[in-house]
Amino acid sequence: MKINQMEVGDVISGIAGPLGLPSQLHPYENGETVVFTAGGVGLPPVYPIMREHLRRGNHVTLISGFRTRDLMFWAEPDQRIGLLQAEFPELLDVIYTTNDGSFGIDGFVTGPLEEMLKNMKAGTGRTVGEVVTIGPPLMMRAVSDLTKPYGVKTVASLNSIMVDATGMCGACMVPVTIDGKMVRKHACIDGPELDAHLIDWDKFLPRFLQFRKQEDENKSRHGFG
Ligand code: FES
Repeated sequence: MKINQMEVGDVISGIAGPLGLPSQLHPYENGETVVFTAGGVGLPPVYPIMREHLRRGNHVTLISGFRTRDLMFWAEPDQRIGLLQAEFPELLDVIYTTNDGSFGIDGFVTGPLEEMLKNMKAGTGRTVGEVVTIGPPLMMRAVSDLTKPYGVKTVASLNSIMVDATGMCGACMVPVTIDGKMVRKHACIDGPELDAHLIDWDKFLPRFLQFRKQEDENKSRHGFG
């Protein structure tokens, strides 16, 4: 509204942003696959990164997890993932998981990922070039813990913890360990994508319980307790 009220000749004295770093996209020319593990609404932020890899000719495996079939979206042939499969039939593999087994593989996204990693190690499956994980923090941690012993580069996108995205509120601080030292990174300046193996998940995860009391109170007030 303020911008619309401006007259010709008025000036904006400064703009903070956009901050953050773009996704790092590497070419994988030896058939390696870039695995995306998307948990629930982690799928939309995964989508443009995945599409860009495909456009560059990289093979992509999407492991898309939902709690149950009713919460799934974009899976029909005329919807985003279906259309992407039609556009890149040779390059895109899609695996669905549901926690209750109502669609696709029964369980979490880590199930098929673990199988891929084991097959890679046994020399019977595609090499996993890197893993990008976006979704609930516990899922991202589980993915990170899984890939670490295999030495597979893993990126966690922490867009969901940002509040003002200007580097000022401090809400998006992430503890990471670099050269044995703990430092804090801003998801909105240094991220949103960070090396998942550097994140100190033990220190990072408790923040998500910070407002549990208020959340529980609100739930019961609205009849969901
Ligand atoms: S979101 Fe506020 S400092 Fe990053």
